[in-house]
Amino acid sequence: MKVLGIESSCDETAAAVYDTEAGLRAHALFSQIDLHAAYGGVVPELASRDHVRRITPLVRQALAEAGLGFEDLDAVAYTAGPGLAGALMVGASVATGIALAHGLTPVPVHHMEAHLLAPMLEAEAPSFPFLALLVSGGHTLLVAVRALGEYELLGESLDDAVGEAFDKTAKMMGLPYPGGPHLAALAEQGTPGRFRLPRPMLDKPNLDFSFSGLKTAVITALPENASDADKADLAAEFQEAVVETLSVKCERALEQTGLETLVVAGGVGANRRLRSRLGEMVAGCGARLFYPRIEYCTDNAAMVAYAGAQRIGERAEHPLVVRARWPLSELRPPAVA
Ligand code: KG4
Ligand code: ZN
Repeated sequence: MKVLGIESSCDETAAAVYDTEAGLRAHALFSQIDLHAAYGGVVPELASRDHVRRITPLVRQALAEAGLGFEDLDAVAYTAGPGLAGALMVGASVATGIALAHGLTPVPVHHMEAHLLAPMLEAEAPSFPFLALLVSGGHTLLVAVRALGEYELLGESLDDAVGEAFDKTAKMMGLPYPGGPHLAALAEQGTPGRFRLPRPMLDKPNLDFSFSGLKTAVITALPENASDADKADLAAEFQEAVVETLSVKCERALEQTGLETLVVAGGVGANRRLRSRLGEMVAGCGARLFYPRIEYCTDNAAMVAYAGAQRIGERAEHPLVVRARWPLSELRPPAVA
């Protein structure tokens, strides 16, 4: 089966082709970062309009790279939520149009399911069951993944998502948009511990997170005429506080569930310090750690095409309905075609 995947949930427009026999055949992506940079964050209406501009050329590019035409495809998968409603509508409309014109099945995909299945695109892929840490700009979730579509939410952020906390803290420190990777780069030049920030929720036995207090703690700790060295040390301490919190909660979740595999997905999964700390943690408890490659950590269509291929038998009742909010726990195992 050959599946075209379309992603347009936020500020990346992307198209990819996944072949259930040959694997990923092509992927193409355009990031709107420059478009939103002047505003310091994603402007939803601008995002939707730019998706409209980019999506058809990207679909053509992905098909050309795969050496396929629409007539060779079996299905068109698209991100149906969660995300920005207008942005999602663009991908859903294009996917439905292509499906109608070429007699293909439209397959709605849950963006976070696509993120958590992204490591399956690698040659060395995890197998079920596993613990998933999903860390993106909109979500911080710890999920016990028993099988495809069997997701038990173990913990989540009660306020800001971890990527959002990175982005907001970076903005406060005067770093360019999107702040996460800039803050991480600054942190690599600093030393944690000179400033001391809290490790939120570590004293609570549950597996939930809270990151909005950290941002406030950074404002309070930032000296009035902060030098570059002060900023780097504060960035390093912020990153350490986040990474330690995520690592400790993952370790507790592995212990509590008895799971022996940890999968990390979502944009913050690109963070180098998080990767090294989690690597040490799993080595200490005999578990295995899997990531998607960096380009499949952040938003992309390869993961959407892959997730769509797993749910190919499911026909959308109303393909043009998108869901800005859509809890992962509502998903069920794929319907047998
Ligand atoms: O998964 P993603 O591309 O989009 C969403 O679905 O949200 O994640 C984007 C988030 C942004 O908040 C971005 O700042 C953050 O991931 N991010 C990072 C790093 N790279 C991306 N945060 C910390 N360190 C990084 N290296
Ligand atoms: Zn995402």
